[in-house]
Amino acid sequence: MDRLNKVNYQFAPAAAAGGSKKDSLSVVDNRTGKSYELPIKDGAINATDLAKIKSPAGAVTRSYDPAYMNTVNCISRISFINGEKGILEYRGYPIEQLAGKSTFLEVAFLLVHGELPTSKQLATFSKKVMKNSAYHHGLEPFIKAFRHDAHPMAMMSTLMAALSSFYPEANPAYVGAGIYNSRQERNKHIYRVLGCAPAIAAACYRHRIGKPINPPKEDLGYIENFLYMMDADPSDKDYRPHPKIVNAIEILFILHAEHELNCSTAAIRHMTSSQADVYTSLAGAVTALYGPRHGGANEAVLRMLDSIGSVDNIPQFIQDVKNRKKVLMGFGHRVYKNYDPRAKLVRTIADDVFSIVGREPMIEIAMELERIALSDEYFVKRKLYPNVDFYSGVIYKALGIPTEMFTIMFTLPRLSGWLAHWDEFVEDPENKIVRPRQIYKGYKRRDYVPAVERRQLVDQELKYVIDSKDARREASLKEARA
Ligand code: CMC
Repeated sequence: MDRLNKVNYQFAPAAAAGGSKKDSLSVVDNRTGKSYELPIKDGAINATDLAKIKSPAGAVTRSYDPAYMNTVNCISRISFINGEKGILEYRGYPIEQLAGKSTFLEVAFLLVHGELPTSKQLATFSKKVMKNSAYHHGLEPFIKAFRHDAHPMAMMSTLMAALSSFYPEANPAYVGAGIYNSRQERNKHIYRVLGCAPAIAAACYRHRIGKPINPPKEDLGYIENFLYMMDADPSDKDYRPHPKIVNAIEILFILHAEHELNCSTAAIRHMTSSQADVYTSLAGAVTALYGPRHGGANEAVLRMLDSIGSVDNIPQFIQDVKNRKKVLMGFGHRVYKNYDPRAKLVRTIADDVFSIVGREPMIEIAMELERIALSDEYFVKRKLYPNVDFYSGVIYKALGIPTEMFTIMFTLPRLSGWLAHWDEFVEDPENKIVRPRQIYKGYKRRDYVPAVERRQLVDQELKYVIDSKDARREASLKEARA
């Protein structure tokens, strides 16, 4: 028996002998010799229980987990992931069944309200969402103020935050957080966001390509209306998007709707915890999704495939990844240590899409890249598999959606997941402001030093370099002053 086990035996002999069935952790603080019993509930200890463990000087013990590698932050009932087995369920329903049988709006209802709707409930929900399909008119000047090459995700996060300014009567900053206590009030925002987000996204797209913005058509289906607003030109009479394209996007939207506490969903819960209004909180979630480690990966995958260029260049690319010069975008996941179930389904959509719009040549590079990576020890050892973003970009490319719009195609459905978490968090009895702690390793207290007595301590050359435009102006100003 080693020393630690001996100590454990002394304080919790049954547990040390492997005989105890108690749901708790026996901890011995070797600094003080004191022992503690920390309850384990739902597979987790409560981090605040660690605060009972104090150093001889009385300092509390905390858990250190910079990227939340092993930290549970809430109790949720929205989605379930088993990363080892590659399982994803929304409210208990397997993603495969939802993708095969449901529609995006039905899934949005399920996520937000917890159960599948009856036909009547779905009809009313759809109607309420579609009644909100036009965004507040005041948003249009914001959209048009962006440069033609502004990134749509930068536009979307700005526009979500701007939406907040149109609804002060529902902003906790004006009226207090109690405003969100009512189910009816929360529904109003859910319908509004789900309703008008496709119109905002389509308007950004039309603005970027220099075409007139299309108002929504309420009587079309949710995805149909989005594609209509993206594509209909004034000369197109009774334009209807191709049903197979609508179906492919419908499935992609279902697959992207929700994914428990990923970076952007954690962000909306974090922002909501300060009682920021729902639109501003969503703007924060959009921003978190934008990054290439998260939703921005679909755009990054396309750029990666483009830079690889041909199947012949794959071995060199893989070598660069192994030498840590590059990252294989669309591979790896914090939770999945198996094939991402969404990626499997996305792959099956590709052929359907190609049968309508033609085969996208990049699919060959993607498939060969996957084949080589899945048999290479570097990836096998680290359990790196394709994630949802690996194939979605190739489909969007085949559909002629500009690369910069890919993460928008992720954002639109994910709004339903974010709203479900917002709704859940607002009602959570453990809803408190999110406020992690830090370990401070900076200077100890010191006194202010007047400028004349200071030594240069920052190792940085600060030079003011005048560019030719400023030099011209400054010369003119100097001359005028003389
Ligand atoms: N290419 C090469 N190596 C990788 C990759 C990759 N895509 N992903 C992880 N690794 C390596 C990483 O270098 C590390 O190796 P080592 O232990 O030798 O240092 C090991 O695998 C573990 O990776 P990690 O970075 O500790 O894992 P993480 O959980 O912190 O990061 C991730 C997860 C998704 C950010 C990361 O896998 C990644 O950057 N992937 C590429 C970006 C991407 O496709 N993101 C989309 C995620 S799915 C959509 C969504 O956001 O929901």
